[in-house]
Amino acid sequence: MKKESVFIETYGCQMNEYDSDRIINALNATPTNVAENADIIIINTCAIREKADHKAVSAVGRYNKLKKNKPELIVGMSGCVAQLYGKKLLKDMPYLDFVLGPRGIPQIPKIIKDIRSENNHRPIETSMDVQDVFDITPYHKKDKVAGFVSIQQGCNKKCAYCIVPTTRGSEINRPINEIISESKYLVELGAKEITYIGQTVNSWKHNRLRFPSLLDNLQEIDGLERIRFTTSFPKDITSKMISSMKKNSKVCKQLHLPVQSGSNKILREMSRTYSIEWYKQRIEMLRDEIPDIALSTDIIIGFGSESEKDFQETMDLINLIEFDTVYSFKYSVRPGTPGEKMKYHVPDNKASKRLSILQERQKEITFKKNCDNLGKIIEVLIEGYSKQNRNDLYGRTTYNKVVNVKNINDSNIGKLINVKITEATQNSLIGEQV
Ligand code: 5AD
Repeated sequence: MKKESVFIETYGCQMNEYDSDRIINALNATPTNVAENADIIIINTCAIREKADHKAVSAVGRYNKLKKNKPELIVGMSGCVAQLYGKKLLKDMPYLDFVLGPRGIPQIPKIIKDIRSENNHRPIETSMDVQDVFDITPYHKKDKVAGFVSIQQGCNKKCAYCIVPTTRGSEINRPINEIISESKYLVELGAKEITYIGQTVNSWKHNRLRFPSLLDNLQEIDGLERIRFTTSFPKDITSKMISSMKKNSKVCKQLHLPVQSGSNKILREMSRTYSIEWYKQRIEMLRDEIPDIALSTDIIIGFGSESEKDFQETMDLINLIEFDTVYSFKYSVRPGTPGEKMKYHVPDNKASKRLSILQERQKEITFKKNCDNLGKIIEVLIEGYSKQNRNDLYGRTTYNKVVNVKNINDSNIGKLINVKITEATQNSLIGEQV
């Protein structure tokens, strides 16, 4: 039988990218990059902020147009928006064929079969009561230098602003043997670097094992050269974790550690469970052990009763720590979260102003940090052709900085090479092989 061809438009986080590849495998389908060629179109959605969920709904409308010439085309929605609004989506969009939450991916073959065999059947699968979440591994492309492996689904933290516990359910940790066997499979396909993903990866535990032992085990995988993981939760940074990062040479010198705010009052309103003193102390511990570690963070502006003083405390923090990268967002109220019921609100124009002040300052810090690399020789894992110029290749440093390497032979793809940094831009570095 001819395989069905599937086009997936993915929004949001790496977990969603990973889920899209799981859908391809679950369907045993051929992925296509051209929507017009597909038998099935799926919009895999993100609900983290309101803007993201609007995008998802308009994408469904766009693809519906293709049904005019191809009535047998199936258009479905998966991911967090699907989970969040469920039935309402089918009601609002009569042309939408199915709705599938993140935990329902193993059910997708049945969903497609049911649609094809029953007229006007529009399945919905948003049950959270599923334990076999890791049964379907993703479709992994051959010769991809850097890949992802999920170690955890869902989240047990109860941050007041966040929709994730609602859409992805509570935390389920993946058994270590499955993590290792998927990693080995990726390495066999040509991967040199793996990023281990989950909502709060460093809270991973399975039986008696904790995250630092997981890192120790991953270090032993032959052929794997680099290990990254994201996202970490500040309260779960332990000294054991830091020593494991330090001692395991494959673990990259990079950590994404969302702080969300520099004010203790706002952290409390967010239910983040740590104080800013705790956060700063963890950063100190990390820098004591791994002095050149690159740090990135997430910040939400305009949450709860954030005053000018609270905002200033956030600015003080980014000036003090000098993160390599800061991902910053204006707070967006999400349905059903504790934040929705809070009585305080920072007016939108005020929040926008604060956000742009923070982003302008961070741009300077990031650029300054990029410039610090000028003249240095840094090891780069080459991932592929540069987007700007086919004669150039790009890769990343252990610090997760993108480097474009000039005039270099493509036999270097997949190799760790030394690069002398000759130019720094706002978002990346440029250099030559030495
Ligand atoms: N509004 C704005 N930003 C949010 N994030 C999570 N929920 C919201 C929200 N409701 C941000 C956090 C998180 C990142 C992935 O998205 O900073 O770390």
